[in-house]
Amino acid sequence: MTYKVRTAVFPVAGLGTRFLPASKVVPKEMLPVVDMPLIQYAANEAVEAGCRTLVFVVNRYKHAIADYFDTAYELEHRLEMKGRADLLDRVRSTLPDGVRCVFVTQSEARGLGHAVLCARPVVGDEPFAVLLPDDLIWNRGKGALAQMVEVAERERGSVVAVEDVPREKTGSYGIVSLADAGQAHGDALRMAAIVEKPAPERAPSTLGVVGRYVLSGGIFGALAATPPGAGNEIQLTDAIEALIEAGDPVWAYRFAGTRYDCGNKLGLVQATLRYALDDAELRAPTLAHLREVLDGSG
Ligand code: UTP
Repeated sequence: MTYKVRTAVFPVAGLGTRFLPASKVVPKEMLPVVDMPLIQYAANEAVEAGCRTLVFVVNRYKHAIADYFDTAYELEHRLEMKGRADLLDRVRSTLPDGVRCVFVTQSEARGLGHAVLCARPVVGDEPFAVLLPDDLIWNRGKGALAQMVEVAERERGSVVAVEDVPREKTGSYGIVSLADAGQAHGDALRMAAIVEKPAPERAPSTLGVVGRYVLSGGIFGALAATPPGAGNEIQLTDAIEALIEAGDPVWAYRFAGTRYDCGNKLGLVQATLRYALDDAELRAPTLAHLREVLDGSG
């Protein structure tokens, strides 16, 4: 059987409380970094990695996400009348041809693991990707998910993105411990265990999980059998731990790129600066403004 990743799941049914009051009306995944919403960056990364079915796990307040990927007939007509082919192109290019979107509802916010489980009827038994759009990963080369899919298809196993986090922050992450004394298999590290949000003194390492996963279909059985854990939510971390315990290969992968946690305010500000400084038109005026602000003249 081939191990091919064709489907990406975007669990976007959380409450987004850290962005209240904005997230009262605007889902945090629709917050822009320069001129694109977070969800567009994540969708681009999934498409680049070869995914052709995008599954959005939403709640009843997240219509904006479906609207965003839908055709905006009236807007397109107006732009056509104005002869704005450049803008029409921007509006129409949210997804390339051949990519389909499926929307699934999570009626109650019962945790990330539960949100992923809601995608089961669409995904089936195949390996699939999970992207949390509020983790925005910037890099100049191949996207983080494309890097991970390469590892997953080569190793025929699940792959979890990790990065080194400060020990005092382990309580905000899933933390992994490594098998084989941490010896790498190419660029992949075999995982021995994973634990959700351990206190710094109990954390088995400082390798923290970030919001990109490639998971074997077996994760659904593990999720269905996972009782509520930390925060009374069904934790994806607990189901991954069950996969490892069952002997399924799960790899940790240190991706190339810089992750911005846009689920909190500082991360969104930092990402906005990074993408603005990376933009040919915005770089000089952004730097000029930063200098004015820093020397107190602006
Ligand atoms: P977060 O921990 O960031 O929670 O969820 P949140 O609700 O989105 O934001 P805050 O903490 O209240 O500000 C991690 C990811 O899991 C999804 C979220 O949408 C986010 O992408 N999620 C979480 C669900 O889809 N359903 C849930 O029940 C919980």
